[in-house]
Amino acid sequence: MANKVTLLPSQHTFLIEKNETLLEAALRSGLSVDYGCSNGACGKCQAKVISGQIEKSGFQDYVFSEAEKLAGQILLCRCIALTDAVLETREATDTNEIPLQRLKAKIKKVESPTNDVKILHTRTPRSQRLRYIAGQRVKLINAKNDQRSYSVASCPCDALNQQFHIPYQPDDEFLSTLFDPDQGNLSVGIEGPTGAFILQEASTRPILFIAYNTGFAPVKGLIEHALSLELSQDIHLIWISDNENGHYMHNYCRSISDAVDNFFYHPLTIDAKKITDDKQVDQLTSNISTVLADATQPLSPLKQHDIYISAEPDISKICENFFTRAGADITHLFLETPSS
Ligand code: FES
Repeated sequence: MANKVTLLPSQHTFLIEKNETLLEAALRSGLSVDYGCSNGACGKCQAKVISGQIEKSGFQDYVFSEAEKLAGQILLCRCIALTDAVLETREATDTNEIPLQRLKAKIKKVESPTNDVKILHTRTPRSQRLRYIAGQRVKLINAKNDQRSYSVASCPCDALNQQFHIPYQPDDEFLSTLFDPDQGNLSVGIEGPTGAFILQEASTRPILFIAYNTGFAPVKGLIEHALSLELSQDIHLIWISDNENGHYMHNYCRSISDAVDNFFYHPLTIDAKKITDDKQVDQLTSNISTVLADATQPLSPLKQHDIYISAEPDISKICENFFTRAGADITHLFLETPSS
């Protein structure tokens, strides 16, 4: 049977299975506890046992002083819980508490759900995990040392695996190098994280995610994070695409809405020609505003929601203007503008 662990001072709780370390269970539950090496060497995952039976599992290089041992200091990455427990430890609550990291990740898989989107799956070594808060971005560095910023499309609760949604064009040199196995590109450099498009975890307001095309990437990370935290308020995802095949993870979204009572998925498609003159901007604004008005009408009043918008800059501005006019609370509007 799983044991329940409570962290202080946050009062966050998580369940830990028999064969898991405290660190693995905390990360799986979406908590941003402090850690580094994951193997008992750096001492960054220190915690103090307030109550409960905690047992060491595996070798650790890090040495506690006698006083620290007496005070109940342990390493989360090297201990398991034999009973329910209460621990005191550091958790990141803000993006500036996450250190900048540089590491190499293995390219596990590249999917092509449509002609113009690639999904890149990477895996970091067990001893060098990527620490970030859901919704943040990192730089991917290809074999020619060129780099480009992308949102991580997965949740840190899956600590070793990352996903990136990449708008694709065959003549893009950066991407050709990144995806070319003939160049021996079985790995990719990662540097980060940066960005502050993160979930307002303490808020109990209903959540409305607006994603446009591959702007879905950071939103997917936020949704997975919200689910790992088991948030109880309603969560709506409005995913707008400018083409019929643009909801490239439609089945994934459908499966969440089938499985999770408080998650609702609204895929929308609009006619969006490239914006080159004011007339087309007006047409696009009208198209987006019309579909948003229809989709959000049942959610009224919008001022009660936390609204997260992830779209390229022009579209983000249109959405922001729509929600401002529709009465949303602008202090609860959160914007991300993915790279192209
Ligand atoms: S993460 Fe380095 S000792 Fe636990």
